[in-house]
Amino acid sequence: MARIVIIGGAGHVGTYLLPRLVEAGHQVVNVTRGLSRPWLPHAAWARVETVVMDRTAEEAAGRFGAAIAGLNPDIVIDMICFTPESAAHLADALEGRVQHLLHVGTIWVHGTLTTVPAREEDPRTPFGQYGIDKSRIEDMLLDRARRGRLPATVVRPGHIVGPGWAPLNPAGHFNSQVFRDIRDGKTLALPNFGLETVHHVHAEDVAQVLALAIDNRSASVGEAFNAVSPAAVTLRGYAEAMFRWFGHQPDLSFLSFEEWQKGVAPEDAQATWEHIIRSPSHSIAKAERLLGYRPRWTSLQAVQDSVAHLLS
Ligand SMILES: NC(=O)c1ccc[n+]([C@@H]2O[C@H](COP(=O)([O-])OP(=O)(O)OC[C@H]3O[C@@H](n4cnc5c(N)ncnc54)[C@H](OP(=O)(O)O)[C@@H]3O)[C@@H](O)[C@H]2O)c1
Repeated sequence: MARIVIIGGAGHVGTYLLPRLVEAGHQVVNVTRGLSRPWLPHAAWARVETVVMDRTAEEAAGRFGAAIAGLNPDIVIDMICFTPESAAHLADALEGRVQHLLHVGTIWVHGTLTTVPAREEDPRTPFGQYGIDKSRIEDMLLDRARRGRLPATVVRPGHIVGPGWAPLNPAGHFNSQVFRDIRDGKTLALPNFGLETVHHVHAEDVAQVLALAIDNRSASVGEAFNAVSPAAVTLRGYAEAMFRWFGHQPDLSFLSFEEWQKGVAPEDAQATWEHIIRSPSHSIAKAERLLGYRPRWTSLQAVQDSVAHLLS
């Protein structure tokens, strides 16, 4: 069994991942600022060692990588890395020191897609600082892995969903009023024809991919894996399913994006634009084939698990 250090382990994914790793017999260390609590309780948290450290402050002082290496991990899971500089700093410190580094990336390493569902190896044209930086991090880590310098794996979640926080809604943003309006049977306006897509994943299934990547190290080193539900949903299909889930006939209207955005808050319109301009739809075939990934949750089941808590 391994000593596994998770950087940022008390968040959405960590809520499921850390108990899973403890139950598998690993020695689990969570690096955190000590501000967050897992979204769900689990007895296994009593067996997680907590190290309080602020990554931002330690990186600024040039000490973060050495501090993580100093915890003597066999495996490191980096949940909260967002810049190539931050990734390189950690990678430099871990080369020759760990059996496996797992980096949590994003499906937004892709910009717009050409064929769907998109495969990990399809050409990437990221846009927006977040996706561009995550793409550069991924290239750097997988290059080091393929040169035999650092055994790294990248896991790319879709829109992470679970009980406790608001899921990306059928209008493509995070304002949970949309779910209350659907529950109350009000008409929901969607942009365009409602045929753009979003691709959720339950946090438990992201944890599954990470755990399987550890278990199947020889297949996962040097590789990136999408961590998404079995299939993306169209906004229209998602909205219709949610109306029915609340016991209503779907009541939808459709407007051009320019007209639609006039009826919502600017930050909601921006979030929708960020999602539908990419219209993610990604393949899980590689994770199924190489890791044995079997998602427990469809997109709709994952969202409904979240909304049931949100509106209870
Ligand atoms: N959310 C999504 O839909 C989505 C989609 C695709 C990819 N991703 C990727 O998923 C990753 C995030 O995973 P997550 O959603 O499970 O994380 P999360 O819920 O945001 O949790 C982050 C954890 O990191 C800790 N943390 C934050 N800042 C820290 C710092 N400066 N120093 C030390 N610890 C710190 C927090 O604990 P404390 O507050 O106690 O420090 C918390 O436990 C990111 O890499 C993101 O790019 C997310």
